[in-house]
Amino acid sequence: MDKTKIMVVEDEGIVAHDIARQLTDMGYDVVAIVYSGEEAVEKARELHPDLVLMDIVLAGKMDGIQAAEQINAIADIPVVYLTAYSDEKTLGRAKISGPSGYVLKPVKKRQLNVAIEVALHKHNIERSLKKNEEALRVSQEQLRALAGRLQEVREEERTNISREIHDELGGALIGLKIDFSFLTKSASKKENETVRTSLLASMDSMNKTIDATIQTIRRIAMELRPGILDDLGLVAALEWQLKDFEKRTGIRCEFFPPAEDISLDADLSTALFRIFQEALTNVARHSGATEVHVRLRTDADSPILEVEDNGKGVEEEENLSSKSLGFLGMRERVQMFGGRVTVTGTPGKGTIVTVEIPPVEKRKKED
Ligand SMILES: Nc1ncnc2c1ncn2[C@@H]1O[C@H](COP(=O)(O)OP(=O)(O)O)[C@@H](O)[C@H]1O
Ligand SMILES: [Mg+2]
Repeated sequence: MDKTKIMVVEDEGIVAHDIARQLTDMGYDVVAIVYSGEEAVEKARELHPDLVLMDIVLAGKMDGIQAAEQINAIADIPVVYLTAYSDEKTLGRAKISGPSGYVLKPVKKRQLNVAIEVALHKHNIERSLKKNEEALRVSQEQLRALAGRLQEVREEERTNISREIHDELGGALIGLKIDFSFLTKSASKKENETVRTSLLASMDSMNKTIDATIQTIRRIAMELRPGILDDLGLVAALEWQLKDFEKRTGIRCEFFPPAEDISLDADLSTALFRIFQEALTNVARHSGATEVHVRLRTDADSPILEVEDNGKGVEEEENLSSKSLGFLGMRERVQMFGGRVTVTGTPGKGTIVTVEIPPVEKRKKED
């Protein structure tokens, strides 16, 4: 293994050489002995030692603490202070500079050895911790990007399928219905009354089936991706969805739209709409509420959506549990806009889900 490279910074020549000799005896490689702070910074940059032994009090403009700070700024090298000095102020300054250790002068071999080994060990641990933290940060970022992309792809697919179902299947059925009305006309001209009545009866039932199927297709297409969201925007889509919810569940709903018109980009509208749907589904499934109030407010381009119910109130553990995939999904959806979702429950009073999105210029910067 390579020897550990050490630089000694000490303005008293005899002391410096004594320390260097001790270091060499212990098996370290003394790569430089320097006598001033300025020189120390220069050599550290040039030689990149594994550790610096730094006298605190140095002759010249720069003392050991300033030199250590400058070295810290250019490279990740542990510094161990040499000091005979113990006035509080100097020690306080030394401490702030984040040293890896201290050795008292006059220097004793054993103490020197321990201080160096501890400093190197600590430094290694810190370095691998930093590396792990960085790796973790990167993988978290990747996960977020992936989650965002998955939502996008899912939404694109839903839009496509919805359109195809609506246009292709819906169109075919309408065609069938038109053909059918011709058939019905000719059937009604049949001479034989028994044949005519039975034909018309079964055609009527088929016609009803076609109508019901058209309704089903419309509903499926709407559920996949409400066209109203693309055509008329978020406010109209929320209003429509809430009315539909009221009709299906019997829960009284009230919508408070924003005072002024808003225009949000399509991705954000979709995210808010999907969160809103999930919140409503939760109200129907878990809350036991009889009333829901929905508010959409905007402060310039920074929307706030609130869904409030008067049900039993979500519990904190349910809200924050890793199993609460609905809430997790809501939070994931706003992440790429730098937004946040808060869920507050009051036992017996109800639950409020609040989605807040910051203004455009702040969106990318936040976590
Ligand atoms: N509006 C609400 N009122 C009361 N409890 C709720 C409400 N919304 C959610 N919860 C509780 O929080 C839990 C987590 O919700 P969610 O993450 O959407 O998961 P899921 O709906 O799949 O159970 C629910 O299981 C339910 O117990
Ligand atoms: Mg849910």
